[in-house]
Amino acid sequence: MNVITCENYQETSRKAADIVIGQIKQKPTSVLGLATGSTPLGLYEYLSKAYQNGTVSFSDAITFNLDEYIGISHDHPQSYHYYMDRHFFSKVDIREENTHLPDNDEDRLDAIADEYNALLKENPIDLQILGIGSNGHIGFNEPGTPFGNETFITCLDEQTRKDNARFFGSLEEVPKKAITMGIKNIMRSERILLLANGKEKADAIHGMMHGEVTEDLPASVLQLHPDVTIIIDKQAAKKVSS
Ligand code: GLP
Repeated sequence: MNVITCENYQETSRKAADIVIGQIKQKPTSVLGLATGSTPLGLYEYLSKAYQNGTVSFSDAITFNLDEYIGISHDHPQSYHYYMDRHFFSKVDIREENTHLPDNDEDRLDAIADEYNALLKENPIDLQILGIGSNGHIGFNEPGTPFGNETFITCLDEQTRKDNARFFGSLEEVPKKAITMGIKNIMRSERILLLANGKEKADAIHGMMHGEVTEDLPASVLQLHPDVTIIIDKQAAKKVSS
């Protein structure tokens, strides 16, 4: 694992944006795997600015998001469909038909998962962006998820629901289920870029890098991937030996 430790959030976001821009410049038709949550907001802001000042174009890029909640509509302010439109897609020249998020129509979740897996096989991800949960989840692959899973329906861990309650009015409003790419989909990516900020992530980052590879800490599987870059701030890095 290649680790880049930064002074602060701005620096992690800028360094991540430089990597994404480099990827798109080198291959304009790149397939990007995208993440949500508070962590990549700065990255999306830098990318949007880079598009607006003519540094990069996303017109030929293809994107696949990791996950979506089940039980809230696409126009709910906390849905990941809404998040992606608001923070990235509406700000750059990406074509809507080239953007993909798992749908959350409860009448056909299994079919949606199968279709997403098929699309991912046709469009292998060149660069996957990841955040990490305080419990070590990636996407919504919670502790205990088999590493062999492809896109599937999951029950959210109580820790994840508590962590994400800050975005909703209360814990009760946080959905209990989600659809997420599986670890197997994530591990097929050519290159992985994981971002983390803040002391709340320090234990997960330490376990991911130095602990045993175990389904109890899903991000630890990244030790088995040949091309992972981790960009973290000093707080998230504080338990990591250099
Ligand atoms: C969320 C997402 C993950 C994200 C993680 C961390 O619930 N499903 O993809 O990486 O939890 O979120 P945050 O960046 O807000 O700490």
